[in-house]
Amino acid sequence: MHATTIEKGNSTDLIDTPCLLVDLDIVDKNLESLFQKFRNRKVNVRPHLKTVKSPEFAKLLLQAGAIGVCTAKVSEAEVMAAAGIEDILITTEIIGAAKLGRLTKLISKHPEIKVVVDSQIGIAAMQQSASEANVNLKVLIELNVGQNRAGTEPGEPALKLANEIAKQPNLHLLGIQGYEGHLQLLTDEAERKRLCTEAMERLMSTVALLRENGHTTEVITSGGTGTAEYCADAGVNEVQPGSFVFMDGAYRRAIGERYGHALTVVATVISKPADNRCVIDAGFKSLSTDSGNAELKVQSDISYRPAGDEHGILESASGTIPLNIGDRVELIPSHIDTTVNLHDYYYCHRGGKLEHVWKLSARGKVQ
Ligand SMILES: Cc1ncc(COP(=O)(O)O)c(C=O)c1O
Repeated sequence: MHATTIEKGNSTDLIDTPCLLVDLDIVDKNLESLFQKFRNRKVNVRPHLKTVKSPEFAKLLLQAGAIGVCTAKVSEAEVMAAAGIEDILITTEIIGAAKLGRLTKLISKHPEIKVVVDSQIGIAAMQQSASEANVNLKVLIELNVGQNRAGTEPGEPALKLANEIAKQPNLHLLGIQGYEGHLQLLTDEAERKRLCTEAMERLMSTVALLRENGHTTEVITSGGTGTAEYCADAGVNEVQPGSFVFMDGAYRRAIGERYGHALTVVATVISKPADNRCVIDAGFKSLSTDSGNAELKVQSDISYRPAGDEHGILESASGTIPLNIGDRVELIPSHIDTTVNLHDYYYCHRGGKLEHVWKLSARGKVQ
């Protein structure tokens, strides 16, 4: 396999394209700048692995001080648990006999896995599955703090769920999750902070109500790359950012350069049909477009657009493009999570010398 023929210490110029290139020095800086913010605030960091989808990066995050990790899906948690990572919060509701069966099987070997729930139906199904498998589940109530995605409403509806969980012999209420995903990419920082503080008031007032009614809420978790500090300042005791590890174009446009672009997609110029236009070997299957088009790492008047599954076009607004057939270019993905999920390997380097080829073991794990 190609990935194994590249050796440590080789120049990254030898890697076939398109490929994911990770600058570990920038990753280190991103981790340090995020973790120091929360060390100072005495708030736990439980990074979301939906971005990196790799046990090796998960372990870097744990070494940097993460208390545990989040995954979006049971199948991602299976990959992480198999790699020896025990403390995992699965942040998406787990519905359906197949998935609950997988979950309870996993939890029988990895009891530190935690799950979220936002409905009576979900609670009943989890209890039945847990009882059949003879395991106990640590459960967080998911609260809608304004994203209007999943999550029960704050206040009484959340209390009703807490009361219901308390009646279940195999479920243990551990806490509450209120993720404000709708605020992550707001470009106006003051507005992002204000709306996040409001969202966290919904979360914290529900925590107070649950506590007044005798429920434990040991873990209060929320926050992404764009909001985690504000969540911590508003009283949560865990934050779950993910994209900060690599960053992407959409986040930089929203929050600026507090974290660096650690990941690029390298592509090769395969054709130059006109002076102002090149064709590269990276299209829809190498760079996601749900948050717009990728951009060249080196700033110029050259724009990128996909031109099919396997082709992309670089075009210069001012005329001649200073690239030739065979040249390599680095692109910054617009959305990191959906781009990473298109690739098999991370090629990790320091100063242009290859250090590791890490498989994206949880790539495509959407179940
Ligand atoms: C529940 C939850 N928590 C945390 C995150 C991490 O957010 P980000 O990658 O924007 O830091 C996400 C991202 O979608 C999420 O869905």
